[in-house]
Amino acid sequence: MSEMRMNKSVSVDELEHAVTYGTDPFLSGDYHQTEKKRLWPQTWQVAERVEDIPNVGDFFTYNVADESVIVIRTAADVIKAFHNVCPHRGRQLIDVPPGVHSVRGNRLSFMCGFHGWTFDREGANTYILDEQDWKGALNPGCTSLSPVQVDTWGGWIFVNMNPNAEPLREFLGEAARLLAPFEFEKMRYKWRQWVIFDCNWKTGLEAFMEPYHVSATHKQLLKYGQYYSYSKAYGLHSVSGFDERDPEKRIKQSTTLARAGKGADARLSTYELQREQYETVNKSSTTETLVNAAKRLVDELPEGTPPDKVVAHWLASAKADDAARGVNWPEISPDEMSVAGLAWHVFPNLSITQGVTFALCYRTRPYGDDPNKCIFEAFALERFPEGKEPKPEWTYAEAVEEKWGRVLCQDFSNMAAVQRGMKSSGFRGTLPNPHQERKVTNFHRNLADLLDQPGPRRV
Ligand code: FES
Ligand SMILES: [Fe+2]
Repeated sequence: MSEMRMNKSVSVDELEHAVTYGTDPFLSGDYHQTEKKRLWPQTWQVAERVEDIPNVGDFFTYNVADESVIVIRTAADVIKAFHNVCPHRGRQLIDVPPGVHSVRGNRLSFMCGFHGWTFDREGANTYILDEQDWKGALNPGCTSLSPVQVDTWGGWIFVNMNPNAEPLREFLGEAARLLAPFEFEKMRYKWRQWVIFDCNWKTGLEAFMEPYHVSATHKQLLKYGQYYSYSKAYGLHSVSGFDERDPEKRIKQSTTLARAGKGADARLSTYELQREQYETVNKSSTTETLVNAAKRLVDELPEGTPPDKVVAHWLASAKADDAARGVNWPEISPDEMSVAGLAWHVFPNLSITQGVTFALCYRTRPYGDDPNKCIFEAFALERFPEGKEPKPEWTYAEAVEEKWGRVLCQDFSNMAAVQRGMKSSGFRGTLPNPHQERKVTNFHRNLADLLDQPGPRRV
């Protein structure tokens, strides 16, 4: 970050204090234009999953703001990426009209539809009509496709359009280290859906960034435990998890235990929570194995078994059930589980809520040039027995309960309402919770600094 920048936000150490920031990041067309220049072409971001392009020649387009990137497997273990633009006169090489999620296929080469210039899978130009007309002035430096940096982590393909970007692993930092035990690379898509919302991409993402909203937005979940939470910044990225209201006990308990049955009978409440999550979070946030193992608790354990024993038994029997069907659990110690928290924000636009054999993820991107619209995507990952992985396509799904489940629709209900509310002349700026919503503030701190825009400041 240049020393010359004028708009430095609060430091990471100041996140524990009350801070505020304005609405420009959500509402301003200028802010959106700045993101188009200084965010999307400059930062690592998830393009897709590795399993989407298993064969040589498989490709997809990744589109964000004004950018479009072709990602292609060029060899068994090599993935490359190029800007989706013909170097002749700038036609998009693969047509991606607005409203198309992405274009997929398998190609030996790419031919531009305008004048026929052709490129191989490595991006090299292989054909120029009447090349002699340039009298030898053309060279690969100006006729090949512009390369984009590409790397993988956790089974995701990340791209970065900045040729001088830091390596992906450095960018991910502690997030990669703390999430490594979950072995996301061994998970596969269970379902994936997208929809367009009337809110900024950040408003959409932030609807999922903290459990502080559970008490009001998902009231039905309160009967299963307390949802007091912490959130913690790790550089660009941050995590939240369940916590204790008592400051003495904070961030010391496992996130699983925090919700293990508030009721009189932990056997029943553990099952009820699992069943409710499975039914209302669109068959995610848990697995069928975990739900079924929880259902048996009442038969397998005597009444009065303490909650920690109930949870230990439940997890051990689910692990055995999964092993019997060929799904091995990763070795994650209770400490690793605890420090990894509940849900991560991976800068700029990915959210990962992880479990031992599953993850529920969200990604948002701007839609067109309107800061009041975004593409919202959610997908569930899970470990499956080898050869039995489902292969769901991206599906456009209207924001209704039948398609997304009750809990996600409750989250959706806040998005456009926040976007509208922030336009009120009576809104004085955000007042994020300094303990529970630090993740949201850290996001704005980092984004504002990257864009050299005014960011969070002490109240
Ligand atoms: S713009 Fe692609 S060949 Fe002319
Ligand atoms: Fe929620």
